Amino acid sequence: MIIPIILSGGSGTRLWPVSTNSAPKQFQPLTGKDSMFLQTLDRAVDRSRFAAPMIVCGPAHVAHVEADLLAAGVADARIVVEPAARNTAPAIALAACAALADDPDATILVMPADHVMTDVPAFLSAIEAAMPAVEAGALATFGIAPSHPETGYGYIAAGAPLAATPGIFEVRRFVEKPPRDNAEAMLAQGGHYWNAGIFLMRADRFLAELERQQPAIAASCSAAMAKAQQDGVRIHPETDAFLSSPSDSIDYAVMEGAEQVVVAPVDPGWSDVGGWAALHELGDKDESGNVRIGNVIAIDAANNYLRACEGKRVAVVGVSDIIVVTHGDDILIIPRERAQEVKAIVEYMAANP
Ligand code: GDD
Ligand code: MG
Repeated sequence: MIIPIILSGGSGTRLWPVSTNSAPKQFQPLTGKDSMFLQTLDRAVDRSRFAAPMIVCGPAHVAHVEADLLAAGVADARIVVEPAARNTAPAIALAACAALADDPDATILVMPADHVMTDVPAFLSAIEAAMPAVEAGALATFGIAPSHPETGYGYIAAGAPLAATPGIFEVRRFVEKPPRDNAEAMLAQGGHYWNAGIFLMRADRFLAELERQQPAIAASCSAAMAKAQQDGVRIHPETDAFLSSPSDSIDYAVMEGAEQVVVAPVDPGWSDVGGWAALHELGDKDESGNVRIGNVIAIDAANNYLRACEGKRVAVVGVSDIIVVTHGDDILIIPRERAQEVKAIVEYMAANP
């Protein structure tokens, strides 16, 4: 059985004002009627293939996770509560230790809680295709055909196909967040994929690679789990041991230097919903290319993302390529091409409370 591990540590500042530290994007119905967390849970809910999920999050988000689990009718999930954020390598290490305690042969499927997928059957087929390689000790990544030289993703250089596992390829090189010229070169060269940020691997293999490459993270996390306290469905790793862990992502800490990495190329309609521009791309558009959510009037307006919250109306005339989002008392107006700069607003508010 595969144990789904859902990473839910991010705060999604580029989707302010809807996403905030106390109510981050993965718990908001931004991409449909369900939150991205619920959609993630739903991808691995089939109990003939998957065991009960494990969620890794900080103390501030446990209530959101529990509310969504209740809404999904998932009663057997466990929640690993991180005393503080130490990035994805330690978060996954905690879950891998818990999975190994359940089953020395455990395979884990690590999924970020804030991605969208429109073709889940394609994703499930890729998991199935990768399983034989994973059982033989490979760390499997999922490769998305790149559309532009994005510098915020990891890149996977695919090598030879595995003789025994059709559709799965050796990984020649894993490059996390390359500089732009490097990303452009990989795109021009072909044979490269974006890393979807989803990993399938035996828990013992992940921990062995972590131990080999980052012994301090491995030691802190296994000590924190050896002294963990259980409180109902919540698992509390021991604070001091966990806080002594260096902070690093799985991509830098493990994947760039790991042995036996493979890639399953897949097109599951994947998006990591990095900001409002991505939501404009994903959304249903009217005949002028506007995405309209809630009570919206758009006259002689094109290619806008217009979001009115409950009780508010958004009306625009003669504008194009902008984003307007209302949420409670907050209103965001920004050109679509500058949507990433929402981060500056959040930073401004933090510096000027
Ligand atoms: N529990 C927990 N604790 N979760 C965390 C933590 C943490 O300390 N840090 C990050 N996460 C969660 C985030 O909420 C997100 O769902 C996921 O782990 C990935 O972290 P990001 O911080 O969003 O990573 P990234 O987007 O910069 O890069 C990763 O994802 C890209 C695809 O979206 C990498 O894996 C890239 O290689 C990849 O292309
Ligand atoms: Mg991300």
